[in-house]
Amino acid sequence: MAALKALAAQLLAWLLVAAGSVALGRPPAPSLPLAAVQGILAAGIGILLKSERWWIAIHLLFSPALVLALRLDLPPSLYLAVLAGLTFVFWTTFRGEVPLFLSNRATAQAVLGLLPDTPGLRVIDLGAGTGGLLRQLAQARPEARFTGVEHAPLPYLVARFNARGLANLAVQRADLWRQPLAEQDVVYAFLSPAVMARLGDKARAELRPGALLISNSFPLPDGAPKWVVDVPDRRGTRLYCYRME
Ligand SMILES: C[S@@+](CC[C@H](N)C(=O)[O-])C[C@H]1O[C@@H](n2cnc3c(N)ncnc32)[C@H](O)[C@@H]1O
Repeated sequence: MAALKALAAQLLAWLLVAAGSVALGRPPAPSLPLAAVQGILAAGIGILLKSERWWIAIHLLFSPALVLALRLDLPPSLYLAVLAGLTFVFWTTFRGEVPLFLSNRATAQAVLGLLPDTPGLRVIDLGAGTGGLLRQLAQARPEARFTGVEHAPLPYLVARFNARGLANLAVQRADLWRQPLAEQDVVYAFLSPAVMARLGDKARAELRPGALLISNSFPLPDGAPKWVVDVPDRRGTRLYCYRME
């Protein structure tokens, strides 16, 4: 798992730095040069462990940033507050490997164009984030029923707020992997490459034939999409669409 690899790289790099300092007869005090050396070692270990590119950058900067932050002499309660804030926003991202980033308005518009005209259509957003996409869809299709599933507390609360006044939009605080999909006509997901195989298995096991799976940015590892929609936005969003058989 990525988080464990990162922890191992950081700890091993600090052990190497401490051992090196002791060997040179210097106590391993947290100085900026020492932190920089630790960062380089951690990044090297990260590369050996085949970590993703962004982890290498994090390894390089983590300890130097820590040493610089210590120099600012900030109150410990501030660190606690930041940790609590990040936890409520990202929740178990370190375990599930699905961070919070949001679909933009152009993407919501493209998804709207993909929704069939079926009366009583049911649409679910697995990992609904702050619910902005669902709000846009639910406003445009008042006769369809929309569900958002989100497990991180703060995004969930914002999504509940975003669902205000919309009788056709329900937001649940739940684990998307435990959410039954049999009754859904369209599943929208904007997750991460790490979970796409699992999502494909779940969709194929639970969705009815004819149901549509739309995955923002990340294709399923097996099986070609029925079609791919290029959204005209700056990030070049692609929607991978799968029709269940
Ligand atoms: C990339 S965001 C997408 C948000 C939204 N669907 C959108 O397109 O704007 C993924 C969301 O999935 C949520 N998530 C990740 N794992 C989850 C799980 N197991 N159960 C429910 N939500 C989850 C994250 O907290 C995050 O808010």
